Amino acid sequence: MIEFQRIYNENCVKTLSRIDDESIDMTIASPPYDDLRDYNGYHFPVEEIASNLFAKTKQGGVVIWVVGDRTVNGDETLSSFKHAFAFKDAGFRVHDTMIYAKNNPIPSDCGKRYRQAFEYMFCFSKETPKTFNPITLPIRQEKAFRSFRITKVGRNDLAHDHVAPKERKLNNIFYYNVGTSSSKDKVAFEHPAIFPEKLVEDQILTWTNEGDVVYDCFMGSGTTAKVAELLGRRWFGSEISSEYVEIASRRLASYVTKKSSTRAATKRKVAAS
Ligand SMILES: C[S@@+](CC[C@H](N)C(=O)[O-])C[C@H]1O[C@@H](n2cnc3c(N)ncnc32)[C@H](O)[C@@H]1O
Repeated sequence: MIEFQRIYNENCVKTLSRIDDESIDMTIASPPYDDLRDYNGYHFPVEEIASNLFAKTKQGGVVIWVVGDRTVNGDETLSSFKHAFAFKDAGFRVHDTMIYAKNNPIPSDCGKRYRQAFEYMFCFSKETPKTFNPITLPIRQEKAFRSFRITKVGRNDLAHDHVAPKERKLNNIFYYNVGTSSSKDKVAFEHPAIFPEKLVEDQILTWTNEGDVVYDCFMGSGTTAKVAELLGRRWFGSEISSEYVEIASRRLASYVTKKSSTRAATKRKVAAS
């Protein structure tokens, strides 16, 4: 039995072993890839985590896996792709390979290559995603236009298809500020690699509805917990380092109250009745 609004201070494989099958709507996590930073020296078994996540994710649920690659002796590790194959092998579909582009990447020379400014946000799904609330942009286009196909004999207007959409879905490259403008919680920066809060917000809003269950297997400073709480989702997480759990607890103290989860649960009951 899993408690919501709780970060389990343990290896996520252990947490996952206690969860009922098909009970998570969405996981969002950034693994400690390529020893890029020293997260107190912890490592993780990606194949084992992927297959556990597959079992514990509901049909139509998703995993958002935010990961990049390190360059070692001039050669990119492609760990991100190894992870993607591990999730595919575990049974997930690669629903979308999205890009998290950094507006303000860390300045560095990078030798004979351009400055590294993105990470992957893989969206792995267990069958077709059951929830998709796309983020849209307004289209400033007053006039209707005529849809057409190019055929062997030239342009062929489609008679019934005058479309003037008022909005369109975002492209799958999302841009975020990193560093101090990515959260106003100073305590969060005691962790070496936090998610931009907006990234987590966009992903949770896209793939879940209020009351859904959101998990982060590498909770770090608690970004997922904070955003999920503020959006009325049920959440829980794992974090192997007690030092980071302590940071997350201090960060979450002003956001998480037992009352807020009761409120979300009440709303869910009302909606279901
Ligand atoms: C990239 S950080 C995640 C940061 C987080 N997204 C945030 O916004 O603060 C990865 C975290 O995974 C934790 N970690 C590493 N191996 C783990 C494991 N097997 N189980 C749980 N946590 C682990 C590390 O201690 C580190 O805090």
